[in-house]
Amino acid sequence: MDEDSIDKFTSPSVYDNDGNEKTPLYAKNDNEKATLKLIISFCMVFCIGILIMLLIHVHYGSPQLVPHGNVASDNAQCSQYGIDILKMGGNAVDAAITTAFCNSVAFLHLSGLGGNGVMTIYDHRTGVGNIIDFRATYSSHFSIGIPGFVAGLFYSHEKYGLLPWKTLVEPSITLAKTGITVTKSLTEAINQNSIKSVRDENLRNWLDLVSTTIPGYKVVAPDGLINSLSLISSYGSIEFYKKMSEELIHVLKPNDVTSYKPLILPVLKQHFMNYTVITSNEGTGGPILMDILKQINNTSDDISLVNCFKDLNDDWYENSGLQISTTDVFDRYVTVISSLGSVFGSHILTNSGYILNNVLDLCHNHDESNQNNRVSSLYLPLIVVESEKICGRRLISGSADVRDGAQILMSMLTTDPQDILSINTIPRFRIKLNDIAIEYPQNFSKKTKELFERSGYNISIATLPYPTSNVVQKVEDKSVAFSDSRGSGQSITI
Ligand SMILES: *[C@@H]1O[C@H](CO)[C@@H](O)[C@H](O)[C@H]1NC(C)=O
Ligand SMILES: *[C@@H]1O[C@H](CO)[C@@H](O)[C@H](O)[C@H]1NC(C)=O
Ligand SMILES: *[C@@H]1O[C@H](CO)[C@@H](O)[C@H](O)[C@H]1NC(C)=O
Ligand SMILES: *[C@@H]1O[C@H](CO)[C@@H](O)[C@H](O)[C@H]1NC(C)=O
Ligand SMILES: *[C@@H]1O[C@H](CO)[C@@H](O)[C@H](O)[C@H]1NC(C)=O
Repeated sequence: MDEDSIDKFTSPSVYDNDGNEKTPLYAKNDNEKATLKLIISFCMVFCIGILIMLLIHVHYGSPQLVPHGNVASDNAQCSQYGIDILKMGGNAVDAAITTAFCNSVAFLHLSGLGGNGVMTIYDHRTGVGNIIDFRATYSSHFSIGIPGFVAGLFYSHEKYGLLPWKTLVEPSITLAKTGITVTKSLTEAINQNSIKSVRDENLRNWLDLVSTTIPGYKVVAPDGLINSLSLISSYGSIEFYKKMSEELIHVLKPNDVTSYKPLILPVLKQHFMNYTVITSNEGTGGPILMDILKQINNTSDDISLVNCFKDLNDDWYENSGLQISTTDVFDRYVTVISSLGSVFGSHILTNSGYILNNVLDLCHNHDESNQNNRVSSLYLPLIVVESEKICGRRLISGSADVRDGAQILMSMLTTDPQDILSINTIPRFRIKLNDIAIEYPQNFSKKTKELFERSGYNISIATLPYPTSNVVQKVEDKSVAFSDSRGSGQSITI
């Protein structure tokens, strides 16, 4: 027995006569009772005060008490909606869903309810990664695939989401009600596709409205879009697909629409330099990148990368789309690629206010034998973590086209972590067999141009809008997020 416990048995103030412990509120006389009351009252006031101060701090205080996280997307409002979700206690998947729905309004020429894509979810603490594959499936149309966008986001919420589904979709309805800003991207997309050549009346009428709106101002969302988002928000994906099957009965086989299911697949991992590269599997840009990483001889040399693609000898069309990077306090990293195929997809705007994809136009090796087969794409989600160093450098990005994504990966890995922002101004180029279409031609170094030409490449100027990729970098517990300078986006870190 130590002195302390001996004292417990001998001290008269703690134990009463028969040795039982006195209750904490034990008081011998009225005087002591009054003192006790005073002490208790003081404690209670103090505790309530602390509680109120804490609550105020949680709501209005410095971000230290708010969960950490990042959202990087092509639209400042969409990133803000994603951050709001993190602040409400949502995780990186919730934030990505909200940002993706917001993008489907803000950039309906590049992504949306009639499109498809892939979401990669990586849990850095366990090293487990999964792909929600919501690429289109085959049906009765030669160019339009069954859209997977809504089903994919709905499924990823069922599987990983924390906040109610409605909460995640609502911000996009708010945005659609306030209208769609005529962005540089939308104007450039219209310039690339002459409005007169658009045969679909819905799309032509809406583009006419856009073209009479001053850039930077808002145009009303296409008819039906607000209703479609409200339907999705209230009833989830099944009702949306039911309505789509009825509306598009002459375009897509109704049963193919209502039976659409996203897939959940393991990620593809490969060691490269001192990193583990995590990406998506067969039928996407993932395996193509992995092949190139095995061959590439010089990571800081553009020609080396272009040669790798040339060796593949594939006459791929350009896959357009949008990319979102999110992280949360659980160290879960999410990258979403969403796409309509080409810019403006199939050039068909449905009565429900969304544009249908044209992913079959971009795909060479069709396998329509099984409705579960996905239309192949070049989508490249990218999560890159320093091998053997749990708190080392981690990068979250990706691209709708592996040829752009590979350039972003090389830029990131050959740049010092503290200079990561500098990769944003490195011009990229579109590679297609012998043709290289360059961005920012006035900034393209003459030396590189000559080098390309000497190696037998035909240099041309890339069409606008340039594809964008957003980046989150974490090193230890510090993160840097940025949206592509080619777009009009903004990243937010809390
Ligand atoms: C990999 O890490 C080791 C040890 O930190 C370093 O010496 C080496 O240069 C790194 N290699 C590359 C390709 O970055
Ligand atoms: C790799 O490419 C860079 C840039 O073109 C060049 O400076 C460097 O010498 C090359 N390294 C090797 C090993 O070829
Ligand atoms: C890389 O170098 C190897 C051996 O020197 C060569 O066989 C291969 O063709 C090169 N790859 C590329 C893409 O240049
Ligand atoms: C292109 O060059 C101009 C002037 O040299 C510079 O202001 C601009 O930021 C550059 N753009 C990019 C994307 O590098
Ligand atoms: C080079 O590219 C331009 C523009 O795409 C094209 O018009 C021209 O035919 C190409 N030349 C060769 C030799 O491929």
